[in-house]
Amino acid sequence: MTVSTIIEKLKTQHTAAREELVFLLNEITDSDREALRRAAQETAQGVFGNKIYIRGLIEISSVCKNDCLYCGLRRSNQNAVRYRLTEEQILSCCDKGYALGFRTFVLQGGEDGFFTDEVVCDIIRAVKTRHPDCAITLSLGERGEESFQKLFDAGADRYLLRHETADSAHYAKLHPDSMRGEERQRQLFALKRIGYQTGAGFMVGSPYQTTENLADDLLFLKRLEPQMCGIGPFIPQKDSPFRDFPQGSLDLTLTLLSVIRLMHPRILLPATTALGTIHPKGRELGILHGANVVMPNLSPVEHRKDYAIYDNKICNGEEAAECLVCLKRRIQSIGYQIVTSRGDYCGAPSDTIV
Ligand code: 5AD
Ligand code: FES
Repeated sequence: MTVSTIIEKLKTQHTAAREELVFLLNEITDSDREALRRAAQETAQGVFGNKIYIRGLIEISSVCKNDCLYCGLRRSNQNAVRYRLTEEQILSCCDKGYALGFRTFVLQGGEDGFFTDEVVCDIIRAVKTRHPDCAITLSLGERGEESFQKLFDAGADRYLLRHETADSAHYAKLHPDSMRGEERQRQLFALKRIGYQTGAGFMVGSPYQTTENLADDLLFLKRLEPQMCGIGPFIPQKDSPFRDFPQGSLDLTLTLLSVIRLMHPRILLPATTALGTIHPKGRELGILHGANVVMPNLSPVEHRKDYAIYDNKICNGEEAAECLVCLKRRIQSIGYQIVTSRGDYCGAPSDTIV
């Protein structure tokens, strides 16, 4: 077994065995890394050319009933400032985003009981009435199949729900007893069944994570075949129990982006804000390693700092328009171009593509 042969297998067969993935992640050298990066970039360019899709992120609530140990919005964090946007505020973010060229709005928030099915359905219908040519992505945590179905029927197109870690013992180290990794996975399969373009994902370098855990995350993605996948480095949050754990590694995150691109040629893969937070060129590097999506923040600037999932999150002071100019420049500087189409998942399941 050599890293080169595993990279070749990922390129041609879009999968690898668990022990091969573990070997690759443990033994990869700098020259292997460059070969992997190039293969992932070529694969992404083969599907998307030099186009990068944009999604407008609207952080609708910093209230959360969960107590995930890594997150600054966890219920027990007394220092967190809680806010929720009104329907009017959300619509105004969408209107501004629309004028800037956004055709996907991502409504993201903690698991906030205020946002009942009725409230969210009303918001979805209002956004769709004003902007029928836009896609709505929800990222509102575990709500259960019945709720997912109602929101889908109201017009939601996509749903992001990171699986966080595919290993249930590791999941239990990151979450309180009330949360179960199996339940998260069950809900992800339900989202796909209902017809959502579904996004899974995980943190790289989360506390107690092993290389075997990461291999299992990759194999879980292979079983789920999500249309989207969000990964980013773990970043300690000062008021969370994991405040003293080290941040996830840039190189490992980039390696995993490339492996995911090779395993799922058509997947929508963002260069995340967390990646941009740990390195000044993190998002550009993400794109050069196979990512094809960026998600600038459309939330009202006065609330940005209060959506403090992790420390030092970038773009807290910038208006959406400023971020867009900044991102356009960054993306052009590496030979890519932002496009304003909806950017739906398209094509055959990635494992049938040669
Ligand atoms: N560092 C990096 N990512 C985090 N997330 C939550 N807390 C952190 C952190 N400290 C990620 C989780 C979650 C998403 C909203 O943000 O993966 O699903
Ligand atoms: Fe927000 Fe650069 S993308 S300031």
